[in-house]
Amino acid sequence: MAMVDTRGRALRDLRVSVTDRCNFRCTYCMPREVFGSDFVFLERQELLTFEEITRVVGAFTRCGVRKVRLTGGEPLLRRGLERLVASLAVLDGVEDLALTTNGSLLAGKAATLRAAGLHRLTVSLDSVDDPVFAAMSDTTVGLARVLDGLTAATRAGFDDIKLNAVVRRGVNDDGILDLARFGREHGYTVRFIEYMDVGTTNGWRMDEVVPAAEIIRRINAELPLEPVEAAYLGEVAQRWRYRDGTGEIGVVASVTQAFCSTCTRARLSAVGELYTCLFASTGTDLRALLRGGIDDDGLVAAIGGRWAVRDDRYSALRASATSQSGEGPRKVEMSYIGG
Ligand code: GTP
Ligand code: 5AD
Ligand code: SF4
Ligand code: SF4
Repeated sequence: MAMVDTRGRALRDLRVSVTDRCNFRCTYCMPREVFGSDFVFLERQELLTFEEITRVVGAFTRCGVRKVRLTGGEPLLRRGLERLVASLAVLDGVEDLALTTNGSLLAGKAATLRAAGLHRLTVSLDSVDDPVFAAMSDTTVGLARVLDGLTAATRAGFDDIKLNAVVRRGVNDDGILDLARFGREHGYTVRFIEYMDVGTTNGWRMDEVVPAAEIIRRINAELPLEPVEAAYLGEVAQRWRYRDGTGEIGVVASVTQAFCSTCTRARLSAVGELYTCLFASTGTDLRALLRGGIDDDGLVAAIGGRWAVRDDRYSALRASATSQSGEGPRKVEMSYIGG
């Protein structure tokens, strides 16, 4: 059943966070000053079990969801994730099952994930220059390990691998072309993402955002590009291809060209809260319903009821606001509700 919100947007995609933990400390996502050794992460028993997640995703498919993406934190830190993949892959209605990972554990897991039925992979990679990679990700995991993960993923049979690169002016924007060339050489679609004011801990400033139009201009000057039609209404990335036929890139212009008007995404936190926007402050507690013994029809009604009153369009409002400081009510962290 298709469900629409107050702005006529259907519910089509679900992003499921399976853990709030990560072995990286990307400065734009989990700055070490905040997510240090004394930071209190969720306890195991607070997390939805794989059985609970599968039930909830099943209910979401009855509300119209067709695309499911597993995220975190770092989803591959959740032990036995391939079991969850296997049970989601066979759910009726799940047409597309993808995973976003930092790639550090991929070398050992790509083959089992593929065998479990995962369709697609997105690997976060902000630089192909070792020191810049280390500065952006604030991790001792070397770039080489992520690259090994990518190689293993290709070997395991994943095609259509995407690389997500968050661009921060003065930090990694010098490496945009190198990343584009790397993707082109290996057949990965690189998606350059405007640095967003998600959460409240990264100290976001507008002057660190490199507009998508500038990213395209810089790449186009060296490697000529032409636009590609969106694959579906509401696609997050704007697509471009190299005129010489050597592949494709994307830009996610969530700051300079907000795409809220076509946003069909819901998010499920690791503890089972439904968030209707990446920039929301609160979610709807589905875990309480589950553990209270609600049946599937009740779950579908709860999800549908929440979606029906959805009015979110944070990025569109930010774009029209006079102040672009990124300040406002406390927003949930991306590592908590998932990229
Ligand atoms: P495909 O299914 O491969 O097209 O991926 P996708 O469109 O779901 O994009 P992906 O999950 O790779 O998202 C890329 C990045 O875009 C995320 O890491 C976020 O930074 C940003 N992003 C994704 N969804 C939203 C959204 O709903 N709002 C905003 N503001 N940014 C988003
Ligand atoms: N701005 C843009 N993208 C972000 N991500 C995390 N934090 C931010 C931010 N502040 C994205 C990264 C990563 C995914 C998990 O979330 O692209 O690939
Ligand atoms: Fe971890 Fe991804 Fe956040 Fe980096 S962006 S800290 S890899 S969850
Ligand atoms: Fe969707 Fe919220 Fe992102 Fe807008 S800001 S595209 S409503 S998640």
